[in-house]
Amino acid sequence: MLNLTIRDKRALISESELSGMIQESLPVLRQAQKGEERFADSQGWLDVEEWANAAILDNILSIAQRVRSTCDAFVLIGVGGSNNAARSVIEALKTDDGPEIIYAGTTLSANALNRMLKSLEGKDFAIDCIAKNFETLEPGSSFRILRKALADRYTPEEAASRIICTGTYGSSLEQLCIDNGYTFVPFPTNIGGRYTAMSYVGLLPMAVAGVDVAALVKGAADMQYTLHTGAPEENLALRYAVLRNLYYQKGYKLELLASFEPQLKWFYKWWIQLFAESEGKDGKGLFPVAAEYSEELHAVGQYVQDGAPLMFETFLDIQARQDSLVIQPDGKKDYFDYLDGKDFYDINKAAFNATVTAHSEKLPCLIFKVPALDAYNFGQLFYFFQFACYLSGRILGIDPFDQPGVEAYKGWMFKALGK
Ligand code: PA5
Repeated sequence: MLNLTIRDKRALISESELSGMIQESLPVLRQAQKGEERFADSQGWLDVEEWANAAILDNILSIAQRVRSTCDAFVLIGVGGSNNAARSVIEALKTDDGPEIIYAGTTLSANALNRMLKSLEGKDFAIDCIAKNFETLEPGSSFRILRKALADRYTPEEAASRIICTGTYGSSLEQLCIDNGYTFVPFPTNIGGRYTAMSYVGLLPMAVAGVDVAALVKGAADMQYTLHTGAPEENLALRYAVLRNLYYQKGYKLELLASFEPQLKWFYKWWIQLFAESEGKDGKGLFPVAAEYSEELHAVGQYVQDGAPLMFETFLDIQARQDSLVIQPDGKKDYFDYLDGKDFYDINKAAFNATVTAHSEKLPCLIFKVPALDAYNFGQLFYFFQFACYLSGRILGIDPFDQPGVEAYKGWMFKALGK
């Protein structure tokens, strides 16, 4: 079970201050548990069953099986919330069997897109264009060039059979599927992109990659149960949401997410998008950033420990000993003999403990103990952080489900491109 501890030598927040604000925030928790009418078009994720039930999982697994048996590669076209959840799990858990997963729709760089197309040469592939509105430039333009790549390679029927679209009912993307015989699966109309991990958006690409999506959904559903029942004062998402807001009120402007598992690299991106797009509005919000330790102890680590006091740190500490690699002596005098016979698992843990001890002298450190890095726990993390983000945004006093700022640059860009 996920749990949270605070390490802060200066005890910036007292237990009574924390429990006082938790008490004050209980109405926010109660409303979130029930769901709020004014956010009805954004809360389809609150009940995991709605978009990740058994019938949907069956359909996902059957489409995934078809792709897995006919493809060497699978291109996930999508940006932001249409990509990040799937990518974070696939890049952390994918084993070598099954199609290679390639990403498109995240860039307008000709160089990056040419490299992506080149990586498909000689491979049988299928694509999934994931777009809620189907007007975002990155996925729309990538879909064009990938449809052409399919048309150049296969007969029209075969090319069409290799195209999946995840779009909203009634959208121009659905119409494109109807007109051209592409496979269409629904993007939830009542969920915004960054909350869609437990739906066709996140689960279909994960299933193609061979991830155990049933375990993932079970993890999310169990977390839903935990956060919607039990003593409100003990609610972990509320505690975390309150801590974030208290640190913000005390002048911290950044939250730095870190772990000692490079496998979590893409999860950071998901987490950053979730909190940045949900909370950064009305001139408010913690700026979410991430660090890949231990590598970045040799870079941003200096600033974290010794620079301007901008941030508090949140660690994901993976508990299970999932891998083992023991360093053997080789008889050469390299002055690393203190490592002889030690397992990298323990060395990495020692680095983690040393880092928390050092950092917590200067800044508050929150530590989430995550039982293991597997599909079930990814499900737990997705639901946990989504729910916590909702609570945190409500305590902050903003709408956690819109993104008005993102729309502003789009207007200027469409104008420049003559849309
Ligand atoms: O979370 C969000 O709502 C956004 O990040 C969207 O997911 C992102 O902008 C992609 O939008 P679309 O799926 O409409 O292309």
